[in-house]
Amino acid sequence: MPDLILQGATVVPMDGPPEQPLGTVAARDVRIRDGRIAEVGQITPTTDDIVQSIAGLVLAPGFVHGHVHYCQTLFRGLADDLPLLDWLVRRIWPLEAAHDPESTRASAELSVAELLRGGATAAQVMESVHHAEVSLEVAATSGMTTILGNCLMDRAGPDVPAQLTTTADAALAAIEQLSDRCRSLPTVDYAVSPRFVLSCSDELSRAAAAHAVRHDLRIHTHADEHPDEGAAVRAQLGRDAIEVLHDQGLLGPRTSLAHCVHTTARERAILVETGTRVVHCPSTNLKLGSGIAPIAEYQARGIPVALGADGAPCNNRLCMLTEVRQAALLQALSAGPGRWPAAHAWHAATRGGAEVLGLADRLGSIRVGLRADLVAFDLGDPTRSLDGDLVSRLVYSAQRDAVRHVWVAGTPRVRDGVLLDLDHEALQRRAAAQLRLLLSRAGMTR
Ligand code: GUN
Ligand code: ZN
Repeated sequence: MPDLILQGATVVPMDGPPEQPLGTVAARDVRIRDGRIAEVGQITPTTDDIVQSIAGLVLAPGFVHGHVHYCQTLFRGLADDLPLLDWLVRRIWPLEAAHDPESTRASAELSVAELLRGGATAAQVMESVHHAEVSLEVAATSGMTTILGNCLMDRAGPDVPAQLTTTADAALAAIEQLSDRCRSLPTVDYAVSPRFVLSCSDELSRAAAAHAVRHDLRIHTHADEHPDEGAAVRAQLGRDAIEVLHDQGLLGPRTSLAHCVHTTARERAILVETGTRVVHCPSTNLKLGSGIAPIAEYQARGIPVALGADGAPCNNRLCMLTEVRQAALLQALSAGPGRWPAAHAWHAATRGGAEVLGLADRLGSIRVGLRADLVAFDLGDPTRSLDGDLVSRLVYSAQRDAVRHVWVAGTPRVRDGVLLDLDHEALQRRAAAQLRLLLSRAGMTR
C-alpha cells in the first residue's frame, strides 16, 4: 500500500500539556502508513505516495464517543418527554426486551453510520442484556476502536420485563463468553457493564468486579444521573451510588461512570481517591431533566472527563459536535463563562476521551505512531468564516455539516460529507422494517 499524504490542512494535534491541550496549531502535512500516522510536518512527497490536498480544512483527531447504546438507536423518538426512571420503565426496557438479533444488528449499523458521519472514530458502547454479540460483530466490522459490553441486570422487579433480567450466573457466563470473543478482535475491547446500581444484585456486582480485575478489563456503568434514581438508591441500599460501587470493588482508573450529575462531596472524594473517570452526557442530562454535571469542578480536581451522547432516545442525536457545544454552554451557565473554556470541551471529545477510555497510547491525538483516525472540518461556511479563535469556531459554531472527511486507521470512511461503502437508504429501509417487527413483539404501536 502506498502512503497517503494529507496535505496543507490546519492541524489541531491535541498533543499539548493540560493547560494548552490543543498543542501547536499550524499548517502541516500528515503522512499515513499502514493505518498509522507516520510523519507530521512539511512533507515532500515521493512519486510512490498518494497525495490528497486538504488545504483550507482543519484536521483534528477523530472524536472519541465516551458513552452510547447502539441497541437504542432504533428507538429514537419513541421515548420523549419523560424523566429517567419512567423513560426506562415505560419505554426503554420494554423496547430492549423486544430486540432480537436482526433488530439489534440494524440498530448497531445505524449507530455506526451516524457516529462515523459525525466524525467519531472510537466509542464506548453499553449494549442490552441479550444479543450483545451481534453489536460486537457490527463494531468489529466497523473498524472503529470500540469498548463494548452487554449490560448486567439481575435484579428482577415488577418494573423490569422478565426477558431483560438474567440470573447472576447467566450474566457472568455472558461476560466470560463475550470478553473471550473480544480477545481475538484487534479493534474491540470488552467492558464489564453493570447497567446501574439499581439493576444489579450485590452478588453479581462483586463477582463482575472480581472478573474485571482478574482479566484486566474495563468497567462501564451509569451513576448519579437523576435525583429520583439517587433517592431510590439511598432508599434501597442506604448509601449513595458511588459509595456502593466503591464498596463492590467496581471503581478505579479502568472504570468510567456515565453522568455523575448529582455527586455528594464524599462521592467526589471517592472519584479522586480511586482515579475513576467520568463520561459527561450533557444533552441527555437536559432532555431527561436530570441536571447539569459539575464538570469544571471535576476537571479542577483532576477527575478525567470524556463526552458522550448516550442513547438516541434520550438525546436524540448521536453527534459529538452537539455534545461539545452543549457541554461548553452548560458549564458557562453553571460554573461561569471561562471556568471550563472551549478548549477543554474539545479535549474531552478527543484526547481526553481517549485518556478516560485508556486508549491514549493508540489514538486521540495527531502524533507519529498513533492510529490515523482523523477528521477534516470545513469551517468555510459564511456563518462561521469570521476570523476568530479556531477552537471557538469548532466548539461553538461548527455543526455536523462541517464534518467533510473522516478516516479510520487511514481508510477514508466519509468523503465530502458522504459515508463511503454504505447503502444508507437500504440500511434505513431495513431498520424501519426491523422496528415495525420489534414494536409488534413489544405490543406497542409507537
Ligand atoms: N441508567 C440505566 N440505564 C440507562 C440507560 O439506558 N440510559 C441512561 N441514560 N441512563 C440509564
Ligand atoms: Zn447511557
